[in-house]
Amino acid sequence: MKRFWVWLPIFLLILISCGPKDNLEKEATAIINSNCKKCHSLKRVYNNKGRDANWWAETVSRMQNYGANLSEEEKDLIIKYLSRR
Ligand code: HEC
Repeated sequence: MKRFWVWLPIFLLILISCGPKDNLEKEATAIINSNCKKCHSLKRVYNNKGRDANWWAETVSRMQNYGANLSEEEKDLIIKYLSRR
């Protein structure tokens, strides 16, 4: 029974660290799906793996200049998600 108390905190940690990330992914992909495939395919977005937050901030600002319609919140959220993939 001692084992249980060893694993419990580890279990909780895993749960806590998974929760917010899943939400971020869900919210970000919903925003990307509805805003980023008007002008090009989503391949263009998802092909850029490993880009940092600065690159995404610049790129998303450029997309806003082209006409992408994002609130500040939505922009921050997708930059966060895309730069962590
Ligand atoms: C109004 C049209 C439009 C919308 C909406 C749009 N884009 Fe783009 N996007 C473009 C054009 C035009 C290019 C090619 C020219 C360029 O890279 O600046 C492009 C290129 C890109 C590239 C490639 C950039 C590179 O340097 O390789 C990425 C990544 C990208 N878009 C991401 C997004 C994301 C994320 C969204 C949603 C927030 C989005 N785009 C919405 C027009 C748009």
